[in-house]
Amino acid sequence: MSRPSEVDPVQLPEERSYELAIRPKRLREFIGQDRLKANLAVFLEAARQRDEPLDHLLLYGPPGLGKTTLAHIVAVEMGAPIHVTSGPAIERPGDLVGILTNLDSGAVLFVDEIHRLSRPVEEILYPAMEDCKVDILIGKGPAARSIRLDVPRFTVIGATTRQGLLTGPLRDRFGIVSHFAFYDSEALFEIITRSAGILGYVIEPDAARVLAMRARGTPRIANRLLRRVRDFAQVEGLEAIGKPIVETALDALEVDHVGLDRVDRMILRAIIDKYSGGPVGLETLAATTGEDSGTIEDVYEPFLLQQGLIQRTPRGRSATAAAYRHLGQEPPSSQGADAPSLFEG
Ligand SMILES: Nc1ncnc2c1ncn2[C@@H]1O[C@H](COP(=O)(O)OP(=O)(O)OP(=O)(O)O)[C@@H](O)[C@H]1O
Ligand SMILES: [Mg+2]
Repeated sequence: MSRPSEVDPVQLPEERSYELAIRPKRLREFIGQDRLKANLAVFLEAARQRDEPLDHLLLYGPPGLGKTTLAHIVAVEMGAPIHVTSGPAIERPGDLVGILTNLDSGAVLFVDEIHRLSRPVEEILYPAMEDCKVDILIGKGPAARSIRLDVPRFTVIGATTRQGLLTGPLRDRFGIVSHFAFYDSEALFEIITRSAGILGYVIEPDAARVLAMRARGTPRIANRLLRRVRDFAQVEGLEAIGKPIVETALDALEVDHVGLDRVDRMILRAIIDKYSGGPVGLETLAATTGEDSGTIEDVYEPFLLQQGLIQRTPRGRSATAAAYRHLGQEPPSSQGADAPSLFEG
């Protein structure tokens, strides 16, 4: 599945260094997700007092909400070295054994896309997470025997956009499970203002507010839009970013007033125009829109669901009355359940 990532090798060096500069390094710089942050602060403090590694931590939620950022913050707050890997990168059980036996005591092992670990690799991870042991098989056939090795105490931080794809036994081994919700506009306002400062620009409060409203509840998108707005401001020779240039830039980028982009609207339009509002299966929708089904499910759908523009039913996705109205269409009467009624209060 292709989606933008801070480790994307084709990313331009300028963008990468910007990424590194704006990424919060400490928990106190991490904006929003207040409950998650408050709980984590307690668990970190308690672990430090006991002089133990933090319990295994699972971070889940849509892309761009700060899972990778938070994993690095946890390592910094624990004063622990971090080893970064990902589910698809660990191909064979032996690869994981190699990683585990080389960890420093107390280290953080960050496994991105942890739902993509293969079953044989997962089997190695279970006893390591539970008892700091790994079982390795030596030899083949009847002469094969298993030996147990000790690994140092460590913390697994797993990140996933799809908690539902994790196997039960793996999920059960995480002592702390944290869900990332979309950010509210206040938090995004703060993130945008902070990032603009790091970019060397002043952004006026009403400009930051407009940008915050249109960033799909997602810091990565907020920062990306800000960078493009900065380009418009720079070319126009503006010293500060005001509301007019934000609106010009967002209109040019086809980001509408609730933050939907061209693909979001294409998905809604496909459900409404081609499938009479749905339900339509994910694969059919992917084929119709030319988007990858995994990308629709991970990247586009969560925000459309959160905004109440689509619904997931066992038979597929359907558009709500709000989606019709968003596209400037009249919802069909069978879709009108959530439409204002003439007979109401
Ligand atoms: N709470 C926050 N405060 C400030 N900036 C943030 C916050 N969360 C994320 N960001 C910024 O948003 C960007 C995306 O965050 P990050 O890469 O951690 O997301 P992710 O959840 O790991 O996404 P993916 O699922 O695609 O891997 C980062 O550049 C980071 O600087
Ligand atoms: Mg990430």
